Amino acid sequence: MFEDLPIAKDDPILSLGIAYKADPRDNKIDLGIGVYRNEHGQTPVMQAVTAAQNRLLAQQTTQAYIGLAGNAEYNQAMLDLLLTGNAAYSRSIAMQTPGASGALRLLADLIASAKPNATVWLSNPSYVNHQPIMQAAGLKVAFYTYFNPASKQVDEEAMLEQIAKLGPNDVLLLHGCCHNPTGAELSFTAWQSITELALKNGFLPFVDLAYQGFGQGLEEDIKGLSHLANRVPELLLASSNSKSFGLYRERSGVAIVVGETLQQATNARGKLFELARRSYTMPPNWGASIVAEILNSSELRAQWENELNQMGLRMRSLRKNLADEFNLQSNSERFSYFTQHQGMFSLTGFSHQHTEQLREQHAIYIVGGGRINIAGLAQQQIPRLVEACLAVGV
Ligand code: LMR
Repeated sequence: MFEDLPIAKDDPILSLGIAYKADPRDNKIDLGIGVYRNEHGQTPVMQAVTAAQNRLLAQQTTQAYIGLAGNAEYNQAMLDLLLTGNAAYSRSIAMQTPGASGALRLLADLIASAKPNATVWLSNPSYVNHQPIMQAAGLKVAFYTYFNPASKQVDEEAMLEQIAKLGPNDVLLLHGCCHNPTGAELSFTAWQSITELALKNGFLPFVDLAYQGFGQGLEEDIKGLSHLANRVPELLLASSNSKSFGLYRERSGVAIVVGETLQQATNARGKLFELARRSYTMPPNWGASIVAEILNSSELRAQWENELNQMGLRMRSLRKNLADEFNLQSNSERFSYFTQHQGMFSLTGFSHQHTEQLREQHAIYIVGGGRINIAGLAQQQIPRLVEACLAVGV
């Protein structure tokens, strides 16, 4: 039966992690997959998470099924976290999903059910899994200009010019904050312009939010998204707690649908239930119950926010030190962009040859295309990283 199956292509991010693990060199540096690490190279369990888990274990009375929507308290807590005070709040439904990838796929299937001929527009470049997920749902994919490799910033003028041509058959996929893979952020004015264009031309905004709190802070990071949600009649939102709660392996994500009316959003939820049922049925509960426990306890929430702020501070300090060290060793200002980017990633533009040489000669692992996970770095690794990058001629 399987003899004609073509050899599967490796995922560019996950396969890099496997190669890193297999590398015996003890000075190796992993700047591949997007996980946060502390100065000791560990991805710690947040203290708020440990405290929530202890509480949950002590209270647990059943492991019975939880239902198609997943954890109801979690769904409410996520709506509160993301849309409190927003005009969209009363027209929204939330459904727990296995990670944000699960939310992206479910929402893509929803689009395909409602509008099979829709085209989903992705930023160029975008998260490596966006295109496969949208295409797996049977949707057409196209790309809008986003990153200017020379300035390492968003080319907002070109982007808006293209978005102005989208219409009711189009879906615009945006990164809520901390763009993956570039780190280059949309300005608030660009969010405002996109909002006006969506209102005028009727395309559907679809936001992927995976790094809330890793940029400028919890509220600041969703300022653009909040503005958009406040004004547009319909919106899709996929959000993940992998990064902001450090719950990578628990796969707690959420799919949010903002409808023109609550009735329409509720209809969409019915469709999402059907889609989930014929795929995985129900999401796993543990990660979602941890998030709900934290968000619904003022004490744990304060602790979590504090820890998240500390992570944000650390990433900003790594960015500054990396830029300083690059500028010092290269005797130039051409690496200052590290401090202008936000979140975990920066797209360096290092060539395929550079990344290969970094891996082979220096045991430094960077995703093809030159994406560096700044949050995976330790301060003391910076001088060696910079020296190696300059040695291979970046
Ligand atoms: C990444 O881009 O490294 C992360 O979002 C992990 C993933 O799922 O690829």
